[in-house]
Parts: sequence; C-alpha cells; structure tokens
Amino acid sequence: TSNAPVAAEQRETWTSSTGFILAAIGSAVGLGNIWRFPGVAYESGGGAFLIPYLVALLTAGIPILFLDYSIGHRYRAAAPLAYRRMAKPTETLGWFQIMLSFVIAVYYAAVIAWAASYFIFAFNLRWGQDTLGFFVGEYLKVGDPEISTTVVPAVAVPLVLVWVAVLVVIALGVTAGVQKVNVIFIPLLGVAFLGLVIRALTLPGAMDGLNAFFTPDWGALADLNVWIAAYSQIFFSLSIAFGIMVTYASYQRRKANMTSSGLVVAFANSSFEILAGIGVFATLGFMANQQSVQVSELEGLTGPILSFVTFPAVINEMPGGAIFGVVFFGSLILAGFTSIISILLGVAASVQEKFGLSRRGSAILVSGICAVLSVLLFSTTSGLLALDTVDQWANNVGIVLSAIVMTVLVVWVFRKSETLRRHLNAVSTFQVGRIWIALIGVVAPAFLVIMLGQKLVSLVN
Ligand code: PFF
Repeated sequence: TSNAPVAAEQRETWTSSTGFILAAIGSAVGLGNIWRFPGVAYESGGGAFLIPYLVALLTAGIPILFLDYSIGHRYRAAAPLAYRRMAKPTETLGWFQIMLSFVIAVYYAAVIAWAASYFIFAFNLRWGQDTLGFFVGEYLKVGDPEISTTVVPAVAVPLVLVWVAVLVVIALGVTAGVQKVNVIFIPLLGVAFLGLVIRALTLPGAMDGLNAFFTPDWGALADLNVWIAAYSQIFFSLSIAFGIMVTYASYQRRKANMTSSGLVVAFANSSFEILAGIGVFATLGFMANQQSVQVSELEGLTGPILSFVTFPAVINEMPGGAIFGVVFFGSLILAGFTSIISILLGVAASVQEKFGLSRRGSAILVSGICAVLSVLLFSTTSGLLALDTVDQWANNVGIVLSAIVMTVLVVWVFRKSETLRRHLNAVSTFQVGRIWIALIGVVAPAFLVIMLGQKLVSLVN
C-alpha cells in the first residue's frame, strides 16, 4: 500500500494488559469526571439522571468503546489510517475525529494550567475571601466579552509548561512515555481522590449534599436535553468517537483481551465519576451547612466556576483546607494530564503515519501548534468565554455527529460490523453477541440523530 513509512518503523506496544488498561482509564478519567459530571448530573435531574446515564452507557458508551477498540486493534493504526484500511473513504471521518480531539486538547490544556496555578495557590489560600473576584478578575483578568488578544502571563506560563510536559511524554513514546506516566499517575490519583471523598464525607452537612445530589427529579426524564446531556457526558467521559481509543487499541498486542479490558475501563470510569459526584456534593453540603442555607440555594455549581470559585470558597472554611485544596487541585492535574496525553498521542500518531514523520518530529509539530493556539485563544482576557463556546460545540454537536457518522458508515455503508465482531471475539474472553450490531447500527444512531436535531434547533434559536 501507500503507507510504507509506517511499516518501516516497528509499532510499539503496551508492555502488558495492565499497561493498556491503566492508560485507557487514564484517558477516560479526566476533568470531565471531576468538574463536568457532578454539575451536569445535578442540573439534569440529580438522582434521576443516573437512569439516562446508565442507558447511555449501555446502549452507546460500551458498544462504541468496543467499536473503537475493534477498529484500532484490527487495523493497527491511528484513526485516519485505521479507517482507511477498513474502507478507504472513511479516512475522512478519521480526520474529522482527530480535528475534534485537537480542538478539545487546545482548551483542555488551559484548564489543566488553571489547576496547576491553583495547586500552588492552595498552599497559602492565595485566592482570599472573594474567590469569584480572584478567579475572574485577578487571575484570568476577564475583560469585555469580546475577542481579545491580550495574553495574561499568569495563565500563559503554566499553559506553556503543560504543553512542554505533554511534548516530552509523547516524544518518549507509548511505552517509555504514555504507559509510564499512567502507571504512576493513575494509582496515585485513585488514592488521592479516595482520600478527598472520605474527608468530604466526614464534614458536617455532607449528607445534605448527598441528598441534594441524589434526590431524583423524575420530571427531568421527560426532557430531551437531559438525555442529550447524558449521551454527551458518556462520550466525552469515555473518550469515545474521538479516534483516540482507536489509536490506543492499535498499540495493544495482537493477542489481547479487548472486550474484557473495555468493561474494566468503562466500569472504572463510571465508578470514578459517581465517586466524584459524591465527593463534590458532600463538600457542597458542608458549605451550605456553614452558611445555614440549603444546597439548592448555593450558586456556582457547574463548569469552571465549581472547581475554581466554589471549591476555593469551601476550602477557606474547612479545617485543614489547604491540604484538601492541594490534593484536590493535584488530582485535577493528574486526571487532566493523563487525558490530554491520550489526545495528543492520537493526533501526533495520525500526523506521523500520514506524512511519514518521525515520532519526535510529529510530537514537536503537533504540540507546538497546540501550544500556540492554546495561548492565543485561552490565555487571553476573553479565554473563559471562548472556552465555554468551544466546549458546547465540540461536545454537544461535534462528538454526537462523529458517533452517528461512524456507526452508520461501519454498519450500513461499508458493512464491517460482522468482521469487527468476529475480530473482537477471536481475541477476547467476553464474547460480543449480535445485539452489539443492533446497538451500534440502530439504537445508538437513532437516538443520536433525534438528539442532534433537537440540539441544533435549540442552538440556532
Ligand atoms: N475523557 C476525558 C475526560 O473525561 O475528561 C476527556 C477526553 C479525553 C475526551 C480524550 C476525549 C478524548 F479523546
């Protein structure tokens, strides 16, 4: 074929299944679990949200995770080339997914950079009493909500450092870079986060927080937006339909238990996510308790504000708050970093395979471009606003579109689902039945088309 440069270099592999699983968990467990999920769940029906969440996990999350794995593992390349080997015209889909990943990486890095700054600030509670004023005014220096090119050095410096760290890991490669980081960071994250949750649960008011979080608003189930929120959360959280899991699976040895690994990853990711919800809301319950209000009366429970304004405010009031803060922002850094390196590996490997570059060359090229764009778009005084807009489009529109196109092409246009199913079953102990094809071919795309239509109508209006 026309892909000689790929064959020339021996493809690296994860050194064990544990290596692969930890890396895949590292990609899945990220900022999405800690700062996205708790707020989304709370806004979308609380305890009742767990129903659409589980439905999305079972009907689309795990099936599409298997699909990503099967393509990467069978065709042994990053997304565009793997798709091309499956069916030539689908290479374009691969590039679309890589472009989405690229967009996400560019803003995701900015949030990791904020977390890095706040990690330092936590030692002496630098943010003071007015945590909103500090975040927006003093730290981000948010100006007029217009596009601005004024770079804020306090954000740009950690941001550049994040990119340098990403570059180093990607240049080191799959085994010596990505796997090594995950094998250290993921257990560390598990321990740190468990510590945080236990501490949070022992605070006065913790149970009020859990009640607020879990009390179901059944009416929410009738709202299509709640279902959209559940599906996009699952896609983002599991890192699926971005081409990234295709790439990770392509580095797995030929004899590898792909489906069982997938179940472990999905279970670990959702457990971590629900644990994060518990930890965050126990902490908010404490805050409400201190202010003698109801949790529902608190403000700033979602998005960046939750982690960077509300949490610092709670930390101020907590005995031993500085330690809690250091561990919390440290966890955000660990979780975020292991996710962003997966994205960059996916993008860099795609570029490497397409243009026949060296691993280092493509790592430098891709990280360099990302770093420049990150700084120009998200470390300026209009960065916060830009971040919100980009997040909306990439996650609620881009990724849903990607999943629809992917499932329809594989199942209906190029009819590869049976080949892929056999491939999975040949290497794995957990056998995938024909129901998998029904899920990726009918149930998931049908749901997604309805949701995307509704979302576009609401975005345009
Ligand atoms: N799954 C990550 C999170 O929950 O934060 C984010 C992510 C990583 C999205 C990798 C997409 C991706 F390809």
